[in-house]
Amino acid sequence: MARTRIPLIAGNWKMNGLKADALSLARVVAAGVKQEAWKDREVLVCPPATLVMAVAEAVKGSGLLVGGEDCHAKASGAHTGDISAEMLKDAGASHVIVGHSERRTDCGETDAKVKAKAEAAWRAGLLPIVCIGETLAEREAGKTLAVLETQLKGSVPAGSTAAKLVVAYEPVWAIGTGKTPTTPEVAAAHAHIRKVLGGLMGDAAGVRLLYGGSVKGSNAAELLAVADVDGALVGGAALKADEFLAIAKAA
Ligand code: 13P
Repeated sequence: MARTRIPLIAGNWKMNGLKADALSLARVVAAGVKQEAWKDREVLVCPPATLVMAVAEAVKGSGLLVGGEDCHAKASGAHTGDISAEMLKDAGASHVIVGHSERRTDCGETDAKVKAKAEAAWRAGLLPIVCIGETLAEREAGKTLAVLETQLKGSVPAGSTAAKLVVAYEPVWAIGTGKTPTTPEVAAAHAHIRKVLGGLMGDAAGVRLLYGGSVKGSNAAELLAVADVDGALVGGAALKADEFLAIAKAA
C-alpha cells in the first residue's frame, strides 16, 4: 500500500535574512505552527546557513522543522566556504534542499552533483528535497516533460524510497516572477514526475512532490488541490510570516 503523503509546506529563504529579523520571522511562524498543532501536514523553513542553528534553537518545541538550502557532497575536508550535510544536521536541521535551479545556474550544479548531495543528506540523516524544473525556452520548445525526466534520472539516487526523498517541481520561469503554470500544466508535470519515479524506485506512489514557483497565500489552495501536488516550496512568500502561514493553512 502506498505510504500516506503528508503535505509538506517548505519555505526557502534563499540569501535573505539578518539575525534579528530572521529570528522574529521564525518565531512568528513557529508560534503559528505551535498553535495549529497540525498532525496532517508538516511545515519547514530553510534559512541561510548562517542562521540555521539560531533558527533551530529559536523554534525548538514548536513543531516547525528547519532545513538547509544546499550542502556539499563530502562530509568534511578542503572545500572552502562549503557546508556539509553533517554540519547542517549538527546545527539542528532535519531537511536540505538540493539542486535548486538557482544553484544549478549560479554554481553550475549538474544532475550528478545533485545526486551526490542527496546521498550526502542521507549519510547525515537529513531528508533531501531534490529540485527540478524547466526553463521558459524548454517549455516553449515543448520539452518540459523530457527535461524533467532527464533531471530526475540524473538527480535521484539509487536506493530512494518514499521516506527518504522529496521532489520539488519548480519551473524556472515561475520562480520570483508572479507567473505560475496552469493547474492542468502542474498536474501533467507532477503525473509525469511520479511516473518517471516509478521506474526508479519501488514506492514512488508515496513520494511527496512539491510545487514551487510564485506560490502565495492567494493561489496556494488552488495549486495544492492539484492531483499529485503534496505540498509547496515557497520563496518570496516565505519571508512574510502571515503569507507563509496562510499557505500552510491552505494545505
Ligand atoms: P518564489 O516563491 O519566490 O517564486 O520562489 C520559489 C522558489 O524558488 C522556492 O525554492
